[in-house]
Amino acid sequence: MRTKQRDSSILTLDYWTTPASNYPRQRVGDAEIATHRCARGIYECYGVGGFALFEAIKPLSITNLKIRRRVWMVDDPPHWLAMMEHARQYHGHVVCAGLGLGLIVHALAQNRAVNKITVVEINPDVIRMVKPLVPECEVVQAHFWDWSGKPDGVLYDLFTGKGRDLLDSAIAVYMGLKAKFPKSVIRIHGFNNDALVATDSWLAATGDSNLRQRWRGVVNDRDHGSAQ
Ligand SMILES: C[S@@+](CC[C@H](N)C(=O)[O-])C[C@H]1O[C@@H](n2cnc3c(N)ncnc32)[C@H](O)[C@@H]1O
Repeated sequence: MRTKQRDSSILTLDYWTTPASNYPRQRVGDAEIATHRCARGIYECYGVGGFALFEAIKPLSITNLKIRRRVWMVDDPPHWLAMMEHARQYHGHVVCAGLGLGLIVHALAQNRAVNKITVVEINPDVIRMVKPLVPECEVVQAHFWDWSGKPDGVLYDLFTGKGRDLLDSAIAVYMGLKAKFPKSVIRIHGFNNDALVATDSWLAATGDSNLRQRWRGVVNDRDHGSAQ
């Protein structure tokens, strides 16, 4: 699938496949799995897998999950490579916020150090449609922040679209996750997780409780999960 490497920071593709490529195209209630064509061209890879860009030298077939016609997840190169990258960081019991296309479940299933996967998904149609397509895992229908437990790892993947550049919100979510799961490996998809850890440590070191409180406040904003 990777045909040639003209520049090590560009992933060159003439074909693309992920565990979601063979999912049946279907609609269940509000949720739908569909295909879109990624036309020939150069696209952002956001540094994922070490690639700044990917180049489609032929049109690529990409799978997406829509909820009420809004795209919530795609299996394009940056997303699938990122799920693989996240999955390598965990061990033991991992809880994932959001089922989406279930790519993270496929990726975690490849990590032998992981022995239990729980996915918390708010939308029952997504669960009905996607749960049968992923490796064995526990799927709980709930708002993520209502779930409690003592997992070894947490992957938060509820930011969509342009929300990704909302670093403030990501820091707030990171702080909320740290407070709720103090012993877990925490990762938030779509952000530089090293930067989140560093910012959290810096905020703790300032000893400025107002500043911490201001960020913590954003966590209670449930706008991040409006897929109900
Ligand atoms: C970006 S997708 C997750 C993609 C997933 N990581 C994967 O590998 O395919 C986000 C999912 O979270 C769900 N969701 C949104 N808000 C939620 C919330 N507050 N609690 C639980 N699930 C939520 C959406 O219905 C959607 O299925």
